Amino acid sequence: LDNRPIGVFDSGLGGLTVVKQLKALLPNEDIVYFGDTGRVPYGTRSNETIIKYATQDVNFLQSFDVKMIIAACGTVSSVLPEEISKSFNIDYTGVLLPASQDACSKTKNKRIGVIGTSATINSGAYEKVIKSIIPDAEVFTNACPMFVPLVENGFIERDNKIAKLVAEDYLEMFKKENVDTLILGCTHFPIIKDIIGDVLGESVTLIDPGFSTAKIAKDILLKTNKLSENQSTSDINYFVSDTQSGFTKIASIFLGETVETSPKTVDLNN
Ligand code: DGL
Repeated sequence: LDNRPIGVFDSGLGGLTVVKQLKALLPNEDIVYFGDTGRVPYGTRSNETIIKYATQDVNFLQSFDVKMIIAACGTVSSVLPEEISKSFNIDYTGVLLPASQDACSKTKNKRIGVIGTSATINSGAYEKVIKSIIPDAEVFTNACPMFVPLVENGFIERDNKIAKLVAEDYLEMFKKENVDTLILGCTHFPIIKDIIGDVLGESVTLIDPGFSTAKIAKDILLKTNKLSENQSTSDINYFVSDTQSGFTKIASIFLGETVETSPKTVDLNN
């Protein structure tokens, strides 16, 4: 057993959608969360920059003696090469493999859609991983960058006209291609799951990578005998790289419950 915290990082606060699922599945695990709010977004940056930032984020979390690191960020998960994540020398998972495995176990017609940031989609990572699991799967992808600012600005109600319009435009191709499973490959997308589901209809299974990743994290902790023996509910320590005026409001949307504590600010450039 191991009572040390789990380290979770993201380009910003969206990664709290993954923390929400972790809390549900592993309610006694303490978490150190780092949101790189000073350098968000990652999804429009070059691979080189994303890898540099992600490595700094991981180094920062390792200074807390965490027992495991989770990249909640869809972009980091897709872009960071495995040889780099292995070099961290710590149990590590992103959302890419867990979400792909879940999608592959859910699809019946082997036609899987993936949405994410531009960097995630341009990386081709999801196609590669999905085809390694189901070689004759057909994978359809579309970058949906406008979903990120829509969510951050609160355009998230199920009947929000603008969000619906954008969703219809982005998702049209998946209807045409008759996908039966869609991976919500970006931290922000589970927040507008209802809007996406309304456009695609009930026949399409939506994969929330946070949920898939929480299951894998639990498996890893079980296998390595590192579950916490804490009886109290998890403590979350928040760190950000820029103080955001709306921290509590935005963090609470992503976490799905009120965030009571204030974050500490750190500068990873130094
Ligand atoms: N967290 C990012 C992701 O999941 C979305 C925001 C960004 O572009 O940094 O891909």
